[in-house]
Amino acid sequence: MAILLPGGAGYIGSHTAVELLNEGKEIIIIDNFSNSKPEVLQKIKQITGKDFKFYEMDYSDRASLEKVFSENKIDAVLNFAGYKAVGESVHKPIEYYTNNISGALVLLDVMRKYNCKKFIFSSSATVYGEPQTMPITEEFPTGGTTNPYGSTKLFIEQILKDIYKSDNTWDICILRYFNPVGSHESGLIGEEPQGIPNNLMPYVARVAAGILPELSVFGNDYNTPDGTGVRDYIHVVDLAKGHVKALEKLNKENEGIYIYNLGTGTGYSVLDMVKAFKQASGKEIKYKIAPRRAGDIATSYADPAKAKAELGWVAEKGIKEMCEDSWRYIEKNS
Ligand code: WQD
Repeated sequence: MAILLPGGAGYIGSHTAVELLNEGKEIIIIDNFSNSKPEVLQKIKQITGKDFKFYEMDYSDRASLEKVFSENKIDAVLNFAGYKAVGESVHKPIEYYTNNISGALVLLDVMRKYNCKKFIFSSSATVYGEPQTMPITEEFPTGGTTNPYGSTKLFIEQILKDIYKSDNTWDICILRYFNPVGSHESGLIGEEPQGIPNNLMPYVARVAAGILPELSVFGNDYNTPDGTGVRDYIHVVDLAKGHVKALEKLNKENEGIYIYNLGTGTGYSVLDMVKAFKQASGKEIKYKIAPRRAGDIATSYADPAKAKAELGWVAEKGIKEMCEDSWRYIEKNS
């Protein structure tokens, strides 16, 4: 029985593929390389010493997907094929809603047809909007997303809840990621944002490497210890391991729908990250204070207690490893 990973060549998909292969699981990756590179597949094999099947295709192409399901015995699907750039989603809402929501619906429909009902969904802390208190538990209300990307996560969560309501033989896990950063310690796979990065960590890494001249710190007048935004950065390898634990949970339970935050429970400010990256890289990180970025919130960090209690999962890697591993990847690959 294989585990299907649409978008498995991407940033989080590739790290999860490695952890699943390390656990001795059989995986199949499908990817159209819209935001990833074919070389990643070889790197996954190099890191793990394991092989897997690959299909180059769009995950929302029903005919191709049916071919994959008819040629293989698929036990579970972990969907990493969503578009994820917040800013881009504002300019391309139709593309985002089509790829993320229509794509997921085609996938879920084909899964149902082939009686494969174990699904792990990559959601995001963005579904909590702007919470009034911290840390964020899974019980906090969702809604108030400020961009189409976030709304696709929110809507797919609702779709999954409705699917489970209609047929409780589904086995669904929604994982709400906080801020994934870092890369595999081998330096072989990592984050490859296209063009100028929007997210903090890849931006800082490029300033350290001399690819970008300086970081703009978006606001230093937030109600936080140093005035800059505070986030729950989580090492992508810890995040990947969270998926392995979620899969174990679905295999253990009979049926159900589960929701977990995947974060460390600790918040770091933009300036904390700059300092930690400077230490990890030994490079100066030039920065200037710039106006707040529209749609940003002051603080966001998880209460990860539920994932610990029910999945036996805790994030193990700290800010030092996050920065060191990001730095290794950029040094090796630029
Ligand atoms: C972190 C902090 C910025 C860039 C977004 C999505 C979320 C998830 C992760 C995934 C904030 C500050 C940033 C810069 C800065 N999506 N910053 N200068 O906004 O918490 O979350 O990415 O695919 O759904 O909303 O992450 O890394 O963009 O920002 O000062 O050049 O860094 O203001 O405080 P964010 P981020």
